[in-house]
Amino acid sequence: MAMPESEAPNPTPKITIQTDGPYIVHGSVPLVQKQQVVSEHGEPLAWEKTGELEHRKTYALCRCGQSAHKPLCDGSHKP
Ligand code: FES
Repeated sequence: MAMPESEAPNPTPKITIQTDGPYIVHGSVPLVQKQQVVSEHGEPLAWEKTGELEHRKTYALCRCGQSAHKPLCDGSHKP
């Protein structure tokens, strides 16, 4: 019997969008924090990795801007 894709060690990454809610990221995708590196004139040069979030099989990423725990959704988008 085949294992459901969601339980496979490396399921195919995909993103689904909840109506008026977060992006749901599936597939054990590493989630890193980056900070923009700028020149002395403020021109963007590159992105520097500054950290990595706890690894999960699935993430709910805030897209409303109201979460107190960005980049993760905390349910604040609900009316
Ligand atoms: S999408 Fe849920 S708090 Fe922003």
